Amino acid sequence: MRIAFDIVGSREKAVAVVDMPEGSDEMAIAKEIMGRYKHVKSVIAKESGRQDPYRLYNFHIITGDQNTEVLHKEHGYILKLDPQKVYFSPREAEERARIAKKVKRGERVLVMFAGVGPYAIAIAKAQPKADIVCVEINPKAVEYADENVQLNKLVGRIKNYVGDVREVVPKIGKFNRIIMPLPESAHLFLDTAFAAAVKGAIIHLYGISEYQKGFPDLEALVKSAATNVGKKIRIIGRQKVLPFAPYRWKARIDIKVL
Ligand SMILES: C[S@@+](CC[C@H](N)C(=O)[O-])C[C@H]1O[C@@H](n2cnc3c(N)ncnc32)[C@H](O)[C@@H]1O
Repeated sequence: MRIAFDIVGSREKAVAVVDMPEGSDEMAIAKEIMGRYKHVKSVIAKESGRQDPYRLYNFHIITGDQNTEVLHKEHGYILKLDPQKVYFSPREAEERARIAKKVKRGERVLVMFAGVGPYAIAIAKAQPKADIVCVEINPKAVEYADENVQLNKLVGRIKNYVGDVREVVPKIGKFNRIIMPLPESAHLFLDTAFAAAVKGAIIHLYGISEYQKGFPDLEALVKSAATNVGKKIRIIGRQKVLPFAPYRWKARIDIKVL
């Protein structure tokens, strides 16, 4: 039987987040994982699909340390988080690195749906001359995001706001680049992104596509959102990010605001 799991944390302490197949012997699987990965101190099982608005699973701890807060390390930065309380996916590290490389000197960057700050921190590490602003609705994630700014010595370079993107973004100015990592519904917030984008801005929209390439379904959503608010745009990039479900892919569309 193939068991899907992620390990979040560091060599000192990590948590295994497991997608338990129905009817499986959870304790045997948890012990097998802990036997193989000695740094895993707790094994937790997902009980549901992701729930809105914080995009969290319900979990139960199968075995190990009841405290599941960890320090996760990726690409030269640290993220403090508890996978039971905030969204985090270690599988997206490569995508964060791809985005970080695109940011140019002097840009004002907005990360919507910012979680504990992984995109913002990846960008700040790669581009010291960018001004980065994050908006996130889960107060616990913003608490971690503030702590992560300090842990990575980025105080003054990243500002975290707690609240709904629709309410906060109209009050915090205009941006050269906007990142929208909420694949199931980010397209519903494109009106807010268009209103916050300067002429020439780039918007990175994440979505779920039924196509392996080109993502015409997502392109159609983007074009209709632009038409609805009378914005002229050009689609300048498409990136397959990760498999999402059978025959569905997490994808990114890059939009230039004209
Ligand atoms: C898919 S997660 C991505 C988190 C983070 N960017 C990352 O890569 O780890 C989406 C995040 O958006 C937040 N969120 C959902 N709806 C929101 C809204 N209307 N305004 C602000 N944040 C929202 C959730 O709490 C969640 O942390």
